[in-house]
Amino acid sequence: MGDDSEEFDQRYQFGRTLVDELGAAGAGPETFELLGMEWDLVPGAYAPKPGTGTEWYTSTIPYPRQGRFLEIGCGAGVTAVWAAQHGCASVLATDITAPAVESTILNTRRHGVEDRVQVRQSDLFAELDSSDRFDLVFWNCSVIEAPADFEFTQDFEWAIFDRGYSALGRYLAQAHDWLLPGGRALVTFNSLGDAERIAQLAAEAGTTLTRLASADRRLAGRDVTYNIFEIVRDPARGR
Ligand SMILES: C[S@@+](CC[C@H](N)C(=O)[O-])C[C@H]1O[C@@H](n2cnc3c(N)ncnc32)[C@H](O)[C@@H]1O
Repeated sequence: MGDDSEEFDQRYQFGRTLVDELGAAGAGPETFELLGMEWDLVPGAYAPKPGTGTEWYTSTIPYPRQGRFLEIGCGAGVTAVWAAQHGCASVLATDITAPAVESTILNTRRHGVEDRVQVRQSDLFAELDSSDRFDLVFWNCSVIEAPADFEFTQDFEWAIFDRGYSALGRYLAQAHDWLLPGGRALVTFNSLGDAERIAQLAAEAGTTLTRLASADRRLAGRDVTYNIFEIVRDPARGR
């Protein structure tokens, strides 16, 4: 489906509503509560709401016990901190925006896991060491496709929009390159995004998506189904 279709426009307009409703922030650092804990937020990073995706994903992901966890797009750092507190030996958390990286650093200190969580600003895997490998790679992705000529003007927009789903396509194609033997690559996708497009991108990446879990919630007045998918590389592509 092209970016001139009515469905594309409806999804994009709802994304704009999410940016306005969820991205509004004051001038200084703030805090929010999730999973019974308090979290720091540098304005411009995504502050997940109780009852929505991040809370469910974070408490549902099959973390590797004593393993290495890579979180792409860590936002405020909730999942990365939780992973360190729930059995992962080491966590690398990356995000493309500075406020997300700064928030995550604050939260690793607030929750006393800075010895086990490294934080790095990176476009997907670009700033990783080439020898880095993980037991689990995960991205709660930016779910709404923006037009190919979309220009990001606010940090927060990165939490909602993916221009032409180009980041998602790269993630699906590259996540397996960073796995240890037996490692797993996961991605979230919810019903606000374009399910046909992610299936198409997965096929283009030589992968298939297997749903591990799903949950129904409400976000900004809408019913939303959140999903966690395992990215399975097609046998012809190796592991
Ligand atoms: C839906 S938000 C999830 C944030 C956080 N993990 C959570 O669950 O609350 C998606 C995150 O991915 C980040 N992101 C978007 N594009 C990215 C890219 N190309 N590389 C790294 N991070 C990216 C955004 O800045 C945002 O923090």
